[in-house]
Parts: sequence; C-alpha cells; structure tokens
Amino acid sequence: MVTALPNGLRVLDLFCCQGGAGKGYADAGFEVTGVDIDPQPRYPFRFVQADAIDYVRRYGAEYDFIHASCPCQHDSDCQRIQGNKHPDLIAPTRAALEATGRPWVIENVGGALPKLRNPVMLCGQMFRLENYRHRFIEAGGGFVLDQPQHPEHLVPQAKMGRPVPPGHYGQFVGNFSGVDLARRVLGVPWMNRDGIRECIPPAYTEYIGTRLLASLLEVAA
Ligand SMILES: C[S@@+](CC[C@H](N)C(=O)[O-])C[C@H]1O[C@@H](n2cnc3c(N)ncnc32)[C@H](O)[C@@H]1O
Repeated sequence: MVTALPNGLRVLDLFCCQGGAGKGYADAGFEVTGVDIDPQPRYPFRFVQADAIDYVRRYGAEYDFIHASCPCQHDSDCQRIQGNKHPDLIAPTRAALEATGRPWVIENVGGALPKLRNPVMLCGQMFRLENYRHRFIEAGGGFVLDQPQHPEHLVPQAKMGRPVPPGHYGQFVGNFSGVDLARRVLGVPWMNRDGIRECIPPAYTEYIGTRLLASLLEVAA
C-alpha cells in the first residue's frame, strides 16, 4: 500500500488499542491522535491515556473526524455465554459524538448490530485481504458511508482461533495460533496477539478516510 500525502486534517481515534483503525486513517493522509483507557506502548501515533467519552466531550470538536471502536467484549459470543459485566458504551459514545458537531463513525462487531443505526458492513474480501473479519460501521454527523459490494466467500475458514490449514483463511480470535500470519494478512506488523484479536484491519479505515475526503471535497465544490 502507498501512504497518501498529509491532507492537513485531524482524526481522533477513540478506544484506539494498538492502532489498527488509526493506521488506516494515517495511510489515507490524516494526522491521527489515539485515546485509550489503558497504556498502549505499541500505538504508532500521538497517544492520550484517558476515558474516551470524557475526552471526546472535552476535545472532540477540535478534530475534523472522529472514529470510535467501542469495546466489543460486551457483544462477543464468548462473553455473552459467560455472562459479561462489561458496560455497553455504544449509546453514550454516540451521544457524545453527536454533541461535537463533527462527522464520525462507530465501529463494532456483529453482536452489536441491534444497537447500530443503518450500519455498513466491511469485509476483508472488499480490500483483497486473505481474511473475512466482518466489521460494522455506523456513520453520523453528516457523513454518509456507502455499502461496498460484498464478494462471495469462496475460501473456507479455519475454526475460530485454530491453526490455519493450507487453502484456508484464519479466524484470529481469543488465544489464536499464527500471530505472524495474522500480522501479514491483516496488515498490522507492529501488533502483538492482544492487539490483533481486537483490531479493525487498516484497509477498512483507509477506505473510510478516502470516502470522507471525497465527501468533504463534494461539499467544498
Ligand atoms: C476493540 S478495541 C479497539 C481496537 C482498535 N480500534 C484497533 O483497530 O486496533 C477497544 C479498546 O477500548 C479500550 N477501552 C475500553 N474502555 C475504554 C474507555 N472507557 N475509554 C477509552 N478506552 C477504552 C480498551 O482498552 C481497548 O483497547
């Protein structure tokens, strides 16, 4: 992939973890600031350790675009089976994003679908990744994201978290096997297993960033 020239616009990357989302916006030419409640020494851009909702309420309006990957443990299958205690942050995050007056997206997993408004689904096949990893994107604040065409899944998947047999795609969840393979196919060579199991592949947010730029140019024309 070729990194775009800086475009002078700032993205706030909330719930940033190790920076899968942030990397895609940087590749699209944005200056990125990440916020996470935990220290994130692998995060490759400017980083602030803080509560994301508190931070966006205070400073969100200073950014051109805001991405929020609310923690998905609340909605993952394994957590639901185990009876999770994680708070649901989607509604309070949306309220805080709307209050900024800026364009934004909320990204999440399939388990959160009932809580997302008109989400677009992104799949690795749309970006020629050797992986599926579906993620769902709600857009707001005046930003509209089109649904790309979804190519048929033709390659079989390995079982969740299990070693990836030849001719299969991996499912890099839980305590999965194949960190090096996951780094390569998802495009996240700086991450460890903890970051990989949580991340959105940078190709997805590079797509969102380029659509944002196109919509800003249309408004300016
Ligand atoms: C699903 S991960 C984000 C993945 C990231 N977008 C990526 O692509 O690599 C969610 C992150 O939210 C963080 N988090 C949880 N509660 C938070 C809060 N209240 N404020 C900020 N970060 C929080 C977790 O530490 C975790 O790193």
